[in-house]
Amino acid sequence: MSVKFAYWVPNVSGGLVVSKLPQRTDWTFDYNRQLARVAEQVGFDYALSQARFFASYGAEHQLEALTLTAALASVTQRLKLISAIHPGLWHPGVIAKAVATIDNISNGRAAVNIVSGWFKGEFIGYGEPWLDHDERYRRSEEFIRVLKGMWTQETFTFKGDFYRINDAPLKPKPVQQPHPEIFQGGNSKAARRMAARVSDWYFMNGASVEKVAEQIAEIRALAAAEGRDPESIRFGLNGFVIQRDTEKEAHDTLREIIAHADEEAVEGFRQQVQFAGNASPEKQGMWAESKFEDLVQYNDGFKTGLIGTEEQIIERIRAYEAVGVDLFLCGFLHFTDDLPRFGERIIPQVRAAPSRRPARAERVAEVA
Ligand SMILES: Cc1cc2nc3c(=O)[nH]c(=O)nc-3n(C[C@H](O)[C@H](O)[C@H](O)COP(=O)(O)O)c2cc1C
Repeated sequence: MSVKFAYWVPNVSGGLVVSKLPQRTDWTFDYNRQLARVAEQVGFDYALSQARFFASYGAEHQLEALTLTAALASVTQRLKLISAIHPGLWHPGVIAKAVATIDNISNGRAAVNIVSGWFKGEFIGYGEPWLDHDERYRRSEEFIRVLKGMWTQETFTFKGDFYRINDAPLKPKPVQQPHPEIFQGGNSKAARRMAARVSDWYFMNGASVEKVAEQIAEIRALAAAEGRDPESIRFGLNGFVIQRDTEKEAHDTLREIIAHADEEAVEGFRQQVQFAGNASPEKQGMWAESKFEDLVQYNDGFKTGLIGTEEQIIERIRAYEAVGVDLFLCGFLHFTDDLPRFGERIIPQVRAAPSRRPARAERVAEVA
């Protein structure tokens, strides 16, 4: 499988960085319809709509992810459309139904990203309980099991701690077989265990090649211990792309983004996400080691280092590919210009080069 490319749908205002630097990016439906069409023309494989219900740190306006995905499904031809979903705010039977419907509308292009949440204010605001960290993952795992059951079985019954499904039918089934792809966000221990057991894709926050390699090895080993083929899990990595004519220009842009950071908002975000991660038994979580500059990009995307000239970015992508990254989830400052430029210049060159992924036999030996 050649490496895949996804982009963050800018469905919340303020773009992908908590910075006051002017951006040529917009959150509206009209903008996103055009962007999605450009994205598929220039070779992106996936578009991820993020789930945000209340203004958080710099996201004053938000279009709801699943609804937006359905709308984008009817105005695109090739893109796979991933919708972020919070267990705890939705019922899994309803989501199984909605995503099966989108899969039919789009002729097999729907996917979900199950996110277990960090923003307590949304849950409290909607009057739903805010569970402890690892309980959120126990609920997410049940949620995924229900999705799979509803999508693949004639009628489905499930007796869990969080969900009960009684002989429930689902027709029509999704177009994709065995079912639409299931991504998950989260890098804590609980997230890794869940990925090893039930997810098709594990999304990583931005990180160095070494940290990414460690996570991939750990999840493959956990999957093998669960009796699952470690090769059946795929890995996506977040990266904020700053592609400029010279290395200096790219790094100047990064410095400007950080220099114009909305300090109060970054600090608020830091407190929230580190509080959410600290509730895990290991007192870690995805943002545990993130510094102020890292958090200016919500998902540590600067750390991936897709910043520099075209050649430098391609080299970096290939270094991650060599340790097992299957997909790059790209964010941009100026989606209007930066996304097509990446698609036109970088995607074809990465695809044309021979894959750097180690052969399956080597990877299986690593796990053993
Ligand atoms: C690629 C990716 C996308 C995410 N998208 C969302 C999202 O749309 N909405 C949200 O509330 N959280 C999102 N999250 C954050 C998760 O909900 C979760 O809080 C975070 O991954 C921390 O989990 P951990 O403590 O298991 O590391 C995302 C995480 C990743 C890695």
